[in-house]
Amino acid sequence: MSQSKEHIVVFDTTLRDGEQAPGFSMDVPAKLELARLLDALGVDIIEAGFPIASPADAEGTFRVATEIRRPVIAALARCRKLDIEEAAKALKPAERKRIHTFLATSDLHLERKLRITREACLSAIVDSVQFARQFTDDVEFSAEDATRSDRDFLCRVVEAAITAGATTINLPDTVGFTIPAESFDFFSEIRRRVPNSDKAIFSAHCHDDLGLAVANSLAAVEGGARQVECTINGIGERAGNASLEELVMALRVRADRLPFDTAINSQGLFQASQLLSKLTAEPVQSNKAIVGRNAFAHEAGIHQDGMLKDARTYEIMRPQDVGQTADQLVLGRHSGRHAVAKRVEQLGLTLSADELAQLYQAVTTMGEHKKGIGDNDLRRMVERVRAGQHSHA
Ligand code: KIV
Ligand code: ZN
Repeated sequence: MSQSKEHIVVFDTTLRDGEQAPGFSMDVPAKLELARLLDALGVDIIEAGFPIASPADAEGTFRVATEIRRPVIAALARCRKLDIEEAAKALKPAERKRIHTFLATSDLHLERKLRITREACLSAIVDSVQFARQFTDDVEFSAEDATRSDRDFLCRVVEAAITAGATTINLPDTVGFTIPAESFDFFSEIRRRVPNSDKAIFSAHCHDDLGLAVANSLAAVEGGARQVECTINGIGERAGNASLEELVMALRVRADRLPFDTAINSQGLFQASQLLSKLTAEPVQSNKAIVGRNAFAHEAGIHQDGMLKDARTYEIMRPQDVGQTADQLVLGRHSGRHAVAKRVEQLGLTLSADELAQLYQAVTTMGEHKKGIGDNDLRRMVERVRAGQHSHA
């Protein structure tokens, strides 16, 4: 019997949290190009910008809200009237709009950064959520630094924000401080203790300072969150946000333990990653999960041999499932005979057993000095073997 899967809302913040990271800023045409792809990818919500932050941010949000019709378009605003008015203005043309208002709730932020009391914080949240509701029924409230906030106070904040009209409650791990078991407990506890928690969707927004953003987001989902905030390639402030492609594929590959699904067309993931890299001129780390150049590349002889016999030996998903072209058996110092023979066959070349042995030796020797041996290298080596210029050691 197939398990029914609950929908997880994918809230993409590449154009806001991602774009505000050093080196990732995008102009308006670039934002629009990426927003079109996010739409095609199937994200539920695009956070298009923080309109009060700059005229370019406001313009980018407005243009995305004008052109992109299917997903909800969100705009960020602090708990201030002017911010909320700017967000509402930029979202005016949107088919479906969300105002996302936030205020820090940890004592550290209240005392040291904002210099306001908890009571002032609470009343600013209530006023802002109520004000935002005058522009749209879809209002998200984020308690910045939620994971380091006092739990009793956070419960009061969440209850008050929902009563004031927030339909989504986001509990960010703003500084990437939490760990998975704690993230699970945190979401479970807040939902259990807040009397009106069933009136809102809970959301995770995890940063990657300890490399745990995706793990913490998945734990939050297990603890009751039904929205995840994430970015393409995991870009975002400092070490970044939870990576959209990793979250989506973790939910898909481990559906046996995680009975949730998203509306993402996973075959578009690689293209989205490449487009972002092109638009920002920032390369994708080669060993990046899912979308990195090496995510489906195999060089070790034992792995290549396993892959040629049955790809499931070393791959938990197929490259085509995420839009990567094909498994790459990289020829180099670590390659096995089987992979060399296979590549020779793929190139339409026929060699005797003796020639193949010589070729294999030539490949491993060249691999000592060269990263990744290409097809042209291989053809040249085959010519030399046939001309008798390589021999057994
Ligand atoms: O990390 C964070 O706390 C944020 C909020 C503004 C949602 O980005
Ligand atoms: Zn953030």
